[in-house]
Amino acid sequence: MTSTSPHLVTRALRRLPIAAGPALLLLSACADERQDIFTPQGDSAEKINRLQVPVFGIAGLVGVLVLGGILVLMRQGSRRHNDAEIDPVQLEGNFKLEIGWTIAPAVLLAVVAVFTVATLLDLDDVDAAPPPELGEMEISVYGHQWWWSYEYEMNPSDTSPENTPEIVTANDLVIPAGVPIRLNIRSRDVIHSFWIPSLAGTRDAVPGRSHDLVIQADEPGVYDGQCKEFCGLSHANMKQRVVALSMPEFQTWLEQQQETQPLLEEGDVGYEGQQTFLAQCSTCHQINGLENADGEPIVVEGGAAVVSRYAPNLTHLMTRGVFAGALFDLWTTDEDGRPVVDRAQLEAWIRDPAAIKPMYDVV
Ligand code: CUA
Repeated sequence: MTSTSPHLVTRALRRLPIAAGPALLLLSACADERQDIFTPQGDSAEKINRLQVPVFGIAGLVGVLVLGGILVLMRQGSRRHNDAEIDPVQLEGNFKLEIGWTIAPAVLLAVVAVFTVATLLDLDDVDAAPPPELGEMEISVYGHQWWWSYEYEMNPSDTSPENTPEIVTANDLVIPAGVPIRLNIRSRDVIHSFWIPSLAGTRDAVPGRSHDLVIQADEPGVYDGQCKEFCGLSHANMKQRVVALSMPEFQTWLEQQQETQPLLEEGDVGYEGQQTFLAQCSTCHQINGLENADGEPIVVEGGAAVVSRYAPNLTHLMTRGVFAGALFDLWTTDEDGRPVVDRAQLEAWIRDPAAIKPMYDVV
């Protein structure tokens, strides 16, 4: 017997705070109900939670039993350590024990598997015919490095090239509350994974493929999410939100988002800003309704996504709550508590985005 046993006990005890750190961090993350797998606020998340709570309970119990057993054995070993005459009891070849600890985990895992498969089939089974008020409307969700765009198509059965999505937006996915919504999850570059923990499970966004995901928010509200597949340098900065509105509010939002912006005349408020946008930003970004410096329309009549899809469409930026891959709140409050645009943060982002959100490996 070596002399490490008592040291093992003290070392294990000393390391407890190190283990407690991540656990506390995990718990503090759960405190935010808007991004919490244990606070389901939609049908799919509810089903997942009904599975994960008992499984975590069982796994926790097994963990406590195993750890407890290890600690007891370590204590016994350290007591016997001073008495070289006592040999530990050899359990090798104990048929009953070996059968026991083989069968018990197998039974436990089989029980968990039955409920897991049942839940998976149930999740796949969700009937997500869009509510009649929305007609055939389809929402496609596109992952980009490192943000999400959302394209709303009102007549998806019209496959002619002229039929383009009526609404293209970013970061905030707006849906009506209380109804299941089917999303087509896609990617424009690498593999991402769309995840709003309190509403549904995850779905990978894979280039060249479209994966269905049904989400439902029971109540109007804001639900946070996080890309769940490592997708490059700013994977951790690729967040997203779902904003659920009541059906009448959602209808108003749909109409308002389809409005285009007018081209301003010299002397109008915002004219210079619009000119700067056209000269500098419109290579990648788009504002529906504007023409570029050569007088050519930036967007083809009636289509919102005809030009660049590789940077967020900014037509109705000020109707969103977040920007830069949902990393920053667009709004803050002034001294009187009134909502104002967080200009400092927005300007810092426009001046040097890579400084606040890593984008490439600088050597
Ligand atoms: Cu996108 Cu991780």
